[in-house]
Amino acid sequence: MKYNIKNICCIGAGYVGGPTMSVFAKHCPDIQFNVVDINTERINKWNSQNLKELPIYEPGLDTLIKKCRGKNLHFSTQVEAKIADADMIFISVNTPTKVSGFGAGKASDLKWIDKSSRQISKYGKSGAIVVEKSTLPVKTAQTIEEILNSNNNNKVFKILSNPEFLAEGSAINNLEFPDRVLIGGDDNEAINALIEIYSNWIEIDKILTTDLWSSELSKLISNAFLAQRISSINSISALCEKTGANIKEVSLAVGSDKRIGEYFLEAGPGFGGSCFKKDISNLVYISNYYGLKETASYWQKVIDINNWQSNRISQIIVNTLFGTVSGKRICILGFAFKSNTNDIRESPAISICRDLLEEGALLQIYDPRVEKQKINQELSKFKNHKDKSNGDKYWIILNSIKEATQNCDAIIVITEWNEFKDIVWSEIAPSMRHPSWVFDTRSIIDVKKAKKHGVNVWSVGNGSTNNK
Ligand code: UDX
Ligand code: ADP
Repeated sequence: MKYNIKNICCIGAGYVGGPTMSVFAKHCPDIQFNVVDINTERINKWNSQNLKELPIYEPGLDTLIKKCRGKNLHFSTQVEAKIADADMIFISVNTPTKVSGFGAGKASDLKWIDKSSRQISKYGKSGAIVVEKSTLPVKTAQTIEEILNSNNNNKVFKILSNPEFLAEGSAINNLEFPDRVLIGGDDNEAINALIEIYSNWIEIDKILTTDLWSSELSKLISNAFLAQRISSINSISALCEKTGANIKEVSLAVGSDKRIGEYFLEAGPGFGGSCFKKDISNLVYISNYYGLKETASYWQKVIDINNWQSNRISQIIVNTLFGTVSGKRICILGFAFKSNTNDIRESPAISICRDLLEEGALLQIYDPRVEKQKINQELSKFKNHKDKSNGDKYWIILNSIKEATQNCDAIIVITEWNEFKDIVWSEIAPSMRHPSWVFDTRSIIDVKKAKKHGVNVWSVGNGSTNNK
């Protein structure tokens, strides 16, 4: 069957669905794109006339929304109606790690996938192509296919896997100029229909086609390999600190070997984001399921090192501040898991703040993009710190570097936002308590400038400079 795709529905208006459909809409003016979500507040934000209110921050996204919204790009909560109209349906719902039940803490929670598959089965047109976009454990496509085609109204759906490789903060660029597009499936006509859409802006030789399972597994493994590089370099950052070497120099020298490559070798507080930990946990889970204990424990170590890195940094902070942060004011610069996003999922800021709160610190937090309510919600999960009855808050969220550093004993740089690279120490240092410290978990601070203004510096992986 030759497809003529004129109407596309994307279920899930999140960090993946929103930017992806915006780029599609820009390049495919003859196709109508309907992005649907059950979250009314999120949809209202997507429809806001004030583009600063879009629910996610992503450089370049506002321009695309301005260009396409209301023309061939629409956001709504009419999930069932838009599914019914669609020739092609992308599933782009959330798949977080399970918090309870079988596989808790390891396997993905597929309840949203299950629900949207049932909705497609009930309301979708027979013959529609269903594209799995969310990051999923291997063989989920098979589950979706079974749900879709087990209806009792003789509908038939074609299923494709088309994993997303966009990184937050550079999503639009990644979607415009991908290294590759991967399409997995066993129906050539359906695959060709998706290739036709992508070929509006992507050279054909960048579009790889494969079977469903290889496609799903490739996505998991791509993320696992990227995360593994970060754990590798973070493990060496600790060695640099002990031996007096500098991790930046080591990364440069190592990454200059073309076989290794220069990317993803920046030491930091540990990887965050919605994908890496979840994907590796899935990899560990399926490896154990198939009895591959060595494979499972090898990849588990990547997560262990990641937890160890943020925990080790918390300990260094406490130890350096004379073994106690109780009652001390600590400024947290950055709460997003990386720069250029307002996403805090799995951000190392969460575990570092938790450790410091448990040690009795008073946190003064500033992030240029993360909504205050999101930070409050996250930190309130640590129940010991809910009680603010003594009138003194355990954390406070402020609007600028200047406000957040006022009267603090130490600054912790957690996200690599540009404005933190350019801190004007002559303005900040005088308002800090003495001895003053900056703990730079991203190695972005100009050590000389900070020290010139009397601020001691600890910088990740920097064995030669750390407070010497
Ligand atoms: C990742 C993958 O890159 C992307 O292909 C996939 O589709 C989704 O998961 P994302 O999580 O958005 O994207 O961001 P990424 O740039 O990969 O960063 C992940 C984490 O690793 C961040 O916390 C980042 O700060 C950290 N990181 C990255 C490092 O600590 N060092 C590095 O060198 C690179
Ligand atoms: P991602 O980073 O994968 O895009 P998000 O959590 O940002 O994840 O977005 C996923 C979106 O999917 C959420 O806004 C959520 O409300 C939406 N969603 C989940 N299940 C459904 C469903 N059955 N129908 C419509 N939207 C859904």
